[in-house]
Amino acid sequence: MLKISAFIFDLDGVITDTAEYHYRSWKRLADEEGLPFSREDNEALRGVSRRESLLRLLKGKVLPEAQMEAFMQRKNDYYRAFLANITPADLLGGVADFLAQTRAHGIKIGLGSASKNARDALNGLGIAAQFDAIGDGYSVSRTKPAPDLFVWVAGRLNVPPSEVVVFEDAEAGIAAAHECGMATVGIGDAERVSAADLILPNLEGVQVAEILSKLGAAPH
Ligand code: BG6
Ligand code: MG
Repeated sequence: MLKISAFIFDLDGVITDTAEYHYRSWKRLADEEGLPFSREDNEALRGVSRRESLLRLLKGKVLPEAQMEAFMQRKNDYYRAFLANITPADLLGGVADFLAQTRAHGIKIGLGSASKNARDALNGLGIAAQFDAIGDGYSVSRTKPAPDLFVWVAGRLNVPPSEVVVFEDAEAGIAAAHECGMATVGIGDAERVSAADLILPNLEGVQVAEILSKLGAAPH
């Protein structure tokens, strides 16, 4: 029977909804620069790194490196202004209870986020201390869908990848987790996470015991 020792959570779209802030920050930059960018375009940016997001926003347009850097810096300044106001009230429904249950079951808790601002977000949300390991945009160089970040976090947790469940809202994240043999729970839009082992709209009212049982894992 499957043995589960750790849960690794993506941040954006699973723990909090910073996706909207990322969108508004890119949108402001795009508008200021006269670059066409819609909410629909933004879907392709979900869960990918800052640089990859800019490349997708540019849709093939090539810019000198210095300008790329300046654009990324500006977008990040806009984003950090949103982040400065983030509080525990920004936790998505059910997250606080689910983390508490996870801890009570003796399951380790990791973060696997592509964001370089992940620690600040966790601090604003008031939950940083609940994580046994935090993997963020600084931890590895290859981002999701490469499995590197989740493998890195599992290493920090001292748990083999086969004993991890990843909670993700992005297709790239589900692919990254499967690539290294982790089980997956897809959160949110079922189409986006259709490859996940289990799909839930959110963590509201979700029981850890129920997740383990549905994944065919031994109870804790
Ligand atoms: C991910 C977000 O968590 O982090 C992406 O889903 C974002 O939208 C990426 O681009 C990088 O974030 P940051 O904060 O390092 O620019
Ligand atoms: Mg996400």
